Amino acid sequence: MSLDIVILAAGQGKRMKSDKAKVLHEVAFKPMLFHVIETAYKLNPNKIIIVVGHLKDDVINSVKTIDEAILSKIHFVEQKEQLGTANALASTIDILSENANTLILYGDTPLTPYSVLNELCSLNIENGMALLTAKASDPKGYGRIVRNDKNEIAYIVEQKDCNETEALIDEVNTGMMLINNEAIKTFIPKITNDNAQKEYYLTDIVKLLKDNNLKVETLLCPDITYLLGVNDKVQLAIAERNYQKQKALEFMQDGLTLADPNRFDIRGSLKFGKNCFIDINVIIKGNVVLGDNVVIGASSIINDCTIDDNTVVSPFTVMNQSTLCKNVTIGPFAHLRPNNTLNDDVHVGNFVEVKNSSLGKGTKSGHLTYIGDSEVGENVNFGAGTITCNYDGAFKHKTIIGDDVFVGSDTQLVAPVTVGNGVTIGAGTTVTKNLDDNCLYITRAKGRVITTYVRPRKEKK
Ligand code: UD1
Ligand code: CA
Repeated sequence: MSLDIVILAAGQGKRMKSDKAKVLHEVAFKPMLFHVIETAYKLNPNKIIIVVGHLKDDVINSVKTIDEAILSKIHFVEQKEQLGTANALASTIDILSENANTLILYGDTPLTPYSVLNELCSLNIENGMALLTAKASDPKGYGRIVRNDKNEIAYIVEQKDCNETEALIDEVNTGMMLINNEAIKTFIPKITNDNAQKEYYLTDIVKLLKDNNLKVETLLCPDITYLLGVNDKVQLAIAERNYQKQKALEFMQDGLTLADPNRFDIRGSLKFGKNCFIDINVIIKGNVVLGDNVVIGASSIINDCTIDDNTVVSPFTVMNQSTLCKNVTIGPFAHLRPNNTLNDDVHVGNFVEVKNSSLGKGTKSGHLTYIGDSEVGENVNFGAGTITCNYDGAFKHKTIIGDDVFVGSDTQLVAPVTVGNGVTIGAGTTVTKNLDDNCLYITRAKGRVITTYVRPRKEKK
């Protein structure tokens, strides 16, 4: 049976107390709705129908930034008034496929594992439905699964409609369900809003199908951790931690050493070779690729970088969109702004900022330096306090430095400027012209010794 997927994302999310659409709140720096869409896409459905309503333009515009292959399967349907989950599903009826089942997902339930949904979708539901349930130690807020004396599901009762006995039931509705499309078309229009919230509850379809002798299966998920619906900021933080723990676990199982899985944050994707080590409080963003034997020091932030074998990043290093080749050492307290290549054996030390530059093999910049818009050759040594003056107030200019150049401490290179191979620049020099190979260049004023000088002093009383 082929599959449609409907993601409900029209609700107000009042409990978030935010003017941002609930489903756009982020887990691991990605809107919750995107997590749901990406998992949905893996199930290979005919189409992914997203029901939008509250702040629909924000939701639609955000979803339009998702990967194109995924976007090609997405259809938006508007639910004009948020009258409940059954009413939300009703708005999709016209575009549901023939001879198919529909998996219903919630935009506020971001972490449901693919494997669980795949299992749900592979159940034989005939003309009926199957729903994913879970045991909750604190079932408050969830719809309860009420079973009959044959232990079959009888109906679902929402928290606000529970009597005292029902409130004690710990098996809950996760919201995720698979329903035959014919059953949706027949029974969704029959659901009424005769309940505490005066809403059309999708969960009422269970009793309707039972009354018509149609199949209602349940799949009990032993662990509710990843089925958590996010209704407020507390649950959002719990979902974030669950996600991070899960990712840390996956990485460790694949051989990554984490100093502490509870103090590691991934906000993108990470690939790594053998023997890599990540110390505490590191944040990985964007797409990060590590070779073998890479060490990332404590409290470093690595965004969209490729770091090759044996490179060591010392603590408190921040780096963006850069490539570090083999045996590079960087930090502590180094800052790579976007677009740098540090070739093999480069050293970038503390309080060094590098931007839009390439540093040749073996080049070293140990301390307190700014290298911007520069092409630097091999085995160059930058003294402390070197500055490439790349900006004239209106335009950026390039600094080009050859191989084996020695740049004395406290040098300013006023770009555009080219320094030849083998040049030595004396400490305290301001380079304002191009330098040919192998010269010594120095602009310091000659020192003077004045022996007759008397420093002013205050009279003592
Ligand atoms: C719902 C279920 C409850 C289940 C819980 C699991 C119903 C009636 N209740 O309750 O049994 O235990 O989820 O998390 O289904 N939405 C719309 N349009 C609407 C109303 C809601 O699109 O008119 C969307 C929301 O954006 C959200 C989802 O449906 O993504 C669930 O709505 P919410 O109000 O959070 O339902 P719960 O009270 O959590
Ligand atoms: Ca919810």
